[in-house]
Amino acid sequence: MTILVTGATGNVGRHVVEQLARAGRPVRALTRDPAKANLPAGVEVVRGDLNAPETLAGALAGVTGMHLMSFFDNAPLATAPEIMDLAVRAGVRRVTVLWGGEPGPVEQAVTAADLEWTLLEPVEFMSNALTWVDSVRAEGVVREAFPEVPSAAVHEGDIAAVAVTALVDGGHAGRTYTLTGPRALTVHDKIRTIGAAIGRDIGFVELTREQANQRLRDRGVPEDVIDYVVGWHAAPPESAYTVVPTVEEVTGRPARTYADWAAEHADAFRP
Ligand SMILES: NC(=O)c1ccc[n+]([C@@H]2O[C@H](COP(=O)([O-])OP(=O)(O)OC[C@H]3O[C@@H](n4cnc5c(N)ncnc54)[C@H](OP(=O)(O)O)[C@@H]3O)[C@@H](O)[C@H]2O)c1
Repeated sequence: MTILVTGATGNVGRHVVEQLARAGRPVRALTRDPAKANLPAGVEVVRGDLNAPETLAGALAGVTGMHLMSFFDNAPLATAPEIMDLAVRAGVRRVTVLWGGEPGPVEQAVTAADLEWTLLEPVEFMSNALTWVDSVRAEGVVREAFPEVPSAAVHEGDIAAVAVTALVDGGHAGRTYTLTGPRALTVHDKIRTIGAAIGRDIGFVELTREQANQRLRDRGVPEDVIDYVVGWHAAPPESAYTVVPTVEEVTGRPARTYADWAAEHADAFRP
């Protein structure tokens, strides 16, 4: 009853792996570079590339559940149809999909597959604040655009907990879950919360929309993705700031707060 976790070294996947391992479930973690994975002892780590489905046969052998990351390298997972086909043939019965874009080929491939699928649509991750670490440590400031726009950011561990519940317990087939944290917060609220966690006032420098665009451009992000990401932050859909109770309904535990996240990551922000 092994569960394959893709994106296992990422913000969400790491939690999925740890929670499955803690629950005593056989878990196999996929990465392109096992030497750098740094996952808990006892977790089986396998090499594979989601862009090259032919590398996944070994990873899928004996697997009954899969957590699939479906958007990276600035694009939806183009190989989703092949991967779902391989998964079904390998005997995978349940899949959770960490979704990150508009409905399209990934969703079609997953929902057409002959297995129990659950789509997870988190709003903004709390861990997006890790992009502020360097400037907070070095200068005690955050540089960001749209400081008054709220979002109900969700803890990555809660996204993972929903995935683990769906994969292990079942009962969530055919569901698409928007996942939020327990409160909608502005950038100012988030900075104040992190400041309280580290015992330091954090300054703020507001970026223009063009500066926000340029920052992503400097990281090599293509223009269509910049438009989507910056547009989302400038004017998010209502679902981004409307708190929903799904995390608690699925997992039986209240969604973790931003203060919880800030306390867990306080050391990263300290000079
Ligand atoms: N941040 C947000 O606010 C937000 C909101 C909603 C949805 N999302 C979605 O969440 C996802 C990001 O999740 P995350 O933050 O947990 O990930 P992450 O920290 O960005 O890590 C990326 C993961 O993807 C894996 N990966 C990249 N290319 C791969 C490939 N070709 N083959 C196999 N694995 C590959 C990496 O594994 P290795 O490097 O170890 O191979 C790593 O585990 C994206 O799809 C995004 O669209 C994000």
